[in-house]
Amino acid sequence: GTTPSASDEHFAPSNIALCKYWGKRDQQLNLPVNASLSVSLGHLGTHTRLVPIDYPADEIWLNGEKLVPSAPFCQRISAFLDLFRNPDHCHFRVTTRNSIPTAAGLASSASGFAALALAVNDSFALQLSKEQLSVVARLGSGSACRSIFSGFVEWQMGHREDGLDSHALALQNRWPGLCIGLIKVDASVKATDSRSGMQRTVETAHLYQSWPLQAASDLQQLKQAITAQDFELLGRTAEHNALSMHATMLASWPPLVYWQPDSLKMMHKIWKLRQDGLPIYFTMDAGPNLKLLFESTSLEEVMRQFPDMEVIQPFGDV
Ligand code: PMV
Repeated sequence: GTTPSASDEHFAPSNIALCKYWGKRDQQLNLPVNASLSVSLGHLGTHTRLVPIDYPADEIWLNGEKLVPSAPFCQRISAFLDLFRNPDHCHFRVTTRNSIPTAAGLASSASGFAALALAVNDSFALQLSKEQLSVVARLGSGSACRSIFSGFVEWQMGHREDGLDSHALALQNRWPGLCIGLIKVDASVKATDSRSGMQRTVETAHLYQSWPLQAASDLQQLKQAITAQDFELLGRTAEHNALSMHATMLASWPPLVYWQPDSLKMMHKIWKLRQDGLPIYFTMDAGPNLKLLFESTSLEEVMRQFPDMEVIQPFGDV
């Protein structure tokens, strides 16, 4: 299409799923087996800018450092850009910067591909709607389609084979006081990436058959919790959903165990604190780290219990 020009710097937030996306019905298009629901992390995410360059390859900078083109990260970005350009004579300098504390073990692919989709839209003057941008971001990484929106976000699975109806939507509700605590258990462990983890689960875990039904019912409960601002319902549904996803991972072959001994230690600590009356829940993705869910009324006590935790308030400080 059009000749690209330099884009502005674009921002997309990171997001944490309360009802997880686990399993693809189409590997190429990143079409999910189930709908999911997340909360975007406010100002924590990725800033990205594109500048066309007269050079036979892309030049990719991450947090101020130039990456080697063979890095898997670079190859995924270049492959995504190939969807919009003629790769024979169109290359970019991609400057990308994460405001997520990288040490916290939060994946940056969601915010990364959402910010890149926004920058592509600007550079090629595509004038896409938010829903179309969400479809485009999804092609980079499934969960990226949710990072186009802020606040609570639902990713509708869609039914079309071309995926044009599989995109995220903003849910209207806010939740001042909602807090997310990032507990780093181990950022160094090289886990099985989510793409191959999902594929293995779908192909080998009989238990996975029950996942779509569980996810559909959790999604409804979460929407109800958000509408009613019922923290207990939100927390227990999110925790149950995450543990159910991990159950399908454990039931895969070879087994997918993302937990470290310290992950389990943290879970027991959380269950004990909850038994003692502290309203605190957790969720986990395809890695060993925990994300705590609590309200700002418990912030002081939770900070005392988890001094190394990073706190995020997705709807701003209260
Ligand atoms: O977007 P991907 O391919 O990195 O998959 C994300 C999968 C989970 O983080 C485990 C769940 C989710 O919904 O974010």
